[in-house]
Amino acid sequence: MKSKHKVLILPGDGIGPEVCHEATRLLSHINESLGLGISLEECSVGGIAYEEYGTPLPDATLAAAREADAILLGAVGGPTWDDIEYDLRPERALLSLRSELDLFANLRPAILSTHLSSCSSLKPEKVQDLNLLIVRELTGGIYFGEPRGRSEDDNTAFNTMVYSKKEIERIGRVAFEAAIKRNKRLCSVDKANVLEVSVLWREVMSNLSLEYPEVKLSHMLVDNAAMQLVRDPKQFDVIVTGNLFGDILSDIAAMLTGSIGMLPSASLNSKNNGMYEPVHGSAPDIAGKGIANPIAAIQSVAMMLRYSLNLNDAASVIENAIESVLSEGYRTYDLEGEGGEKLKTSEMGDKILERLELER
Ligand code: IPM
Ligand code: MG
Repeated sequence: MKSKHKVLILPGDGIGPEVCHEATRLLSHINESLGLGISLEECSVGGIAYEEYGTPLPDATLAAAREADAILLGAVGGPTWDDIEYDLRPERALLSLRSELDLFANLRPAILSTHLSSCSSLKPEKVQDLNLLIVRELTGGIYFGEPRGRSEDDNTAFNTMVYSKKEIERIGRVAFEAAIKRNKRLCSVDKANVLEVSVLWREVMSNLSLEYPEVKLSHMLVDNAAMQLVRDPKQFDVIVTGNLFGDILSDIAAMLTGSIGMLPSASLNSKNNGMYEPVHGSAPDIAGKGIANPIAAIQSVAMMLRYSLNLNDAASVIENAIESVLSEGYRTYDLEGEGGEKLKTSEMGDKILERLELER
């Protein structure tokens, strides 16, 4: 059959290949059973690509990424590459992919499965039914601002936090649109009491809100937002914020759900092509042991089917299968709290696969 959708798999480093293996196995199975017309290709990225090709993002990988409708990325980085030159670090591959493909909208949901409220480090009643979405601007701000570097005498180093109205507006629109489909509350997070760039951010968000009267917009300073996320996370519906603040707040939000091993993310451009990643990173301490939690990677596949490939039913099939496995008490080693049998990475993959309810 002719392929309708091109998906590129970039397993990367650490536990990336282990979790991608499970996610890919599942995707192939659904693709064949439902005749979705997805073609899969795999390329090298990150530290492993640096070892083989001398660069964390080989030209062939970037070319394949440009051709793809969607990318599943495992993770990049690890202590092996801590001391290599800045521009050759595995993380640079991720940042280049984001910027080359203009993946400016990073969606990071933090959803707590009803079966896992005892896994959170917060009291169960604080997180029961938690469902929030962080919309992080991903191709601007201090991550990419110029100038950056070191002074000639090597005594100073600097980065620049810069946002244009256009950049703020386009991420703002994504967040307002997301809020419309949810509980219609949007909290914009900034540091407008100190940073000029945040004053502009706030102005643009406020102006934009006039176009979305059905959404209730609020503003919050980032230090307060960090505190509120651990004090009373259920007050939030959608949070929109810049690149650096979003990086930090999304890690906090992730942990509220009990394990960072559960959470997917999507990074989209204006055509809805996207890169999908588990939030957890390469976890070098458990790499190669076969105990990583593949659920975040599998959830990332569900997000991919929904956002980039427009295959909502197939996405729901995956999400339902995960819920059903969790409801039966199956857990991976990262999930603390009550719950029955502990499964290894591939066993969790098998269980989810067995629970897929596939009807053509
Ligand atoms: C993330 C990661 C990356 C980031 C790193 C690995 C470059 O922490 O996706 O949150 O800072 O954006
Ligand atoms: Mg991060």
